[in-house]
Amino acid sequence: QPSNFQEGSDVLLKRGECRAKGGAPGFKVAILGAAGGIGQSLSLLMKMNPLVSVLHLYDVVNTPGVTADVSHMDTGAVVRGFLGQQQLESALTGMDLVIIPAGVPRKPGMTRDDLFKINAGIVRTLSEGIAKCCPNAIVNLISNPVNSTVAIAAEVFKKAGTYDPKRLLGVTTLDVVRANTFVAEILGVDPREVDVPVVGGHAGVTILPLLSQVKPPSSFTAEETEYLTNRIQNGGTEVVEAKAGAGSATLSMAYAAAKFAGACLRGLKGEAGVVECAFADSQVTELPFFATKVRLGRAGAEEVYQLGPLNEYERIGLEKAKRELAGSIQKGVEFIRK
Ligand code: NAD
Ligand code: LMR
Repeated sequence: QPSNFQEGSDVLLKRGECRAKGGAPGFKVAILGAAGGIGQSLSLLMKMNPLVSVLHLYDVVNTPGVTADVSHMDTGAVVRGFLGQQQLESALTGMDLVIIPAGVPRKPGMTRDDLFKINAGIVRTLSEGIAKCCPNAIVNLISNPVNSTVAIAAEVFKKAGTYDPKRLLGVTTLDVVRANTFVAEILGVDPREVDVPVVGGHAGVTILPLLSQVKPPSSFTAEETEYLTNRIQNGGTEVVEAKAGAGSATLSMAYAAAKFAGACLRGLKGEAGVVECAFADSQVTELPFFATKVRLGRAGAEEVYQLGPLNEYERIGLEKAKRELAGSIQKGVEFIRK
């Protein structure tokens, strides 16, 4: 096995910790599902983040190769690999942030909910490990269906007595990334100058872009609003169909996950004004979880923002989103309670 795999990395780990103390503050980050389509690119991007001092790569297959490969990058983070469930606890112990892209992706013709059967059990097992080994870590949950898997993780944490609503975040950043891109195309501007709040959840009609709140302030015709809303809601399906059976979004998702995880780390470091959309424990609607903008700080999602003023089109969309979300959340809750 490569020297940075498992026990062999202790020397490197100590050096890594020294380096982190002497330089920028470093956080310990684990990626669960690190050998997958999202996981590999995300491992690369997190290895490039200067706020990461230690990077643990966990999967049930192929982590030795991914770990050896990523560890050769001349960036600060020390990389360690963990293979199989018997190494899950070592992978998680001491982590500040755990990112979860583990689980099966969609094929054409499937909904995200069709993944529940397999991914619900995976998320349960991984959440049990987190509750035991790093109950104070911030969790970024990517595995679909996010509208249900966040509820599953929350129930596992509640059962273990470790649930902190501020620290469990479903990752919806890809919806915002897509919305910024598609809106920028219509406006003819650089997507980096655009900010579209996307609220609700992460599947079909539960993905609700608030085009009336786009920054910079912009107006859209009814036709543009319809086109943009449909394209943002079906962005995942667009990729699934284009990949024609070879999976779903991995590269844009790794980018989005790295952006969101980077924001969580900047919040943990104490940076002010770090705001991202996320699917979190929420009192914004009558539902227990809902995606809105949240302010990320040392404690996780320290503030959950209200929706702000909605137009008629968005109010109708919100009612549709809530109806579907309620069932998906309940399905996740029942998976653990029953
Ligand atoms: P993939 O099949 O390429 O990779 C998944 C990885 O998870 C594999 O390496 C697999 O070995 C691993 N895995 C399976 N069971 C595991 C377990 N018990 N513990 C640890 N690892 C395990 O899939 P992908 O394309 O990387 O997608 C992963 C998940 O992310 C899917 O559920 C997909 O729907 C979801 N996804 C979410 C978003 C989002 O916006 N939230 C975007 C894209 C994909
Ligand atoms: C996405 O939005 O790309 C992901 O949720 C993957 C999928 O199945 O669409």
